[in-house]
Amino acid sequence: MNDIQTLSAPAKIILLGEHAVVYNQPAIAIPVSQIRAYATTKVSEQFSIVAQNTGEHFDLQTLNNQIDNALSSIVRNTLEQLNKPAPNVTISITSDIPVASGLGSGAAVSTVICKSIALAYETELPLETINELVYQVEKIHHGTPSGIDNTVIVYEKPVFYKRSEPLNLFEVEHHFEFLIADTGDKALTHISVGDVRKLYVSNKEKYGEIFSKIGELVLFGRKALLSGNRMLLGTLLNQNQDLLRQLTVSSERLDQLVDSALNAGALGAKLSGGGRGGNMIALVDHASREDVHHALVAAGAKNVISFSLPPENKGI
Ligand code: PMV
Repeated sequence: MNDIQTLSAPAKIILLGEHAVVYNQPAIAIPVSQIRAYATTKVSEQFSIVAQNTGEHFDLQTLNNQIDNALSSIVRNTLEQLNKPAPNVTISITSDIPVASGLGSGAAVSTVICKSIALAYETELPLETINELVYQVEKIHHGTPSGIDNTVIVYEKPVFYKRSEPLNLFEVEHHFEFLIADTGDKALTHISVGDVRKLYVSNKEKYGEIFSKIGELVLFGRKALLSGNRMLLGTLLNQNQDLLRQLTVSSERLDQLVDSALNAGALGAKLSGGGRGGNMIALVDHASREDVHHALVAAGAKNVISFSLPPENKGI
């Protein structure tokens, strides 16, 4: 390989259908190409990974000692897949993607490490294989992940995802503008997923019906994206937020941000991902974007990211 190579993977956000997707309903996730994780690979004397954001340094021995760690798992799984020893490279990771907030930072970092190790051997693994390797690592974080995060990040395309069905990527040609706002509250996805499971077990009929309603609006969501129907998509985001509230995965701060966005002219808004904290997403139009942005900041959002579909420019 060349002395230095950089590659990247995008963040992702779930637009519609989180939680219900675990129960075999469809969900839609979209890449957030404007914020990314990067890996720079340099030839060196021995294998190591440097996490630039935290200053941590992992050599092979440290990784081998941490069996259940996400980093060591993606390294081990990738090397097993390639059937090679660790290459003599240093992989430096930087990421603009906030951690533990539903934007897929873990899956993006796993993706760039997997690709970088293959690159060190001047090879490219098929996306399908990378997706499976990253999924195995997601299981360490999330217990029973649906697989939606790794899929949208590895393929970097909107995905209509249903657990039992073949991969269904699609292109969005119409222009949609979104804002993502961070509550600043860290929340662990496996906890909210576990709590929803307890609710479901307590009343399968009631919660099964909520999952089905979410699944139905996801089908309309795909139509809205394909036909460029912003009003419909906004309404669906709002309906999905109501159903997520019923699953108890919203929070006071998420509700405040959603209400502020709607009051400032957003076409629709909802939490995204595991909930209880993390991020919300608002659909805006050109006229309302600035107002909604200010309203979110005024309501206490810690970070507001603006992005669009299709992306204006992708990274490396
Ligand atoms: O919090 P995130 O963005 O990783 O999303 C979790 C989405 C859930 O549907 C709640 C769980 C899953 O595995 O799909």
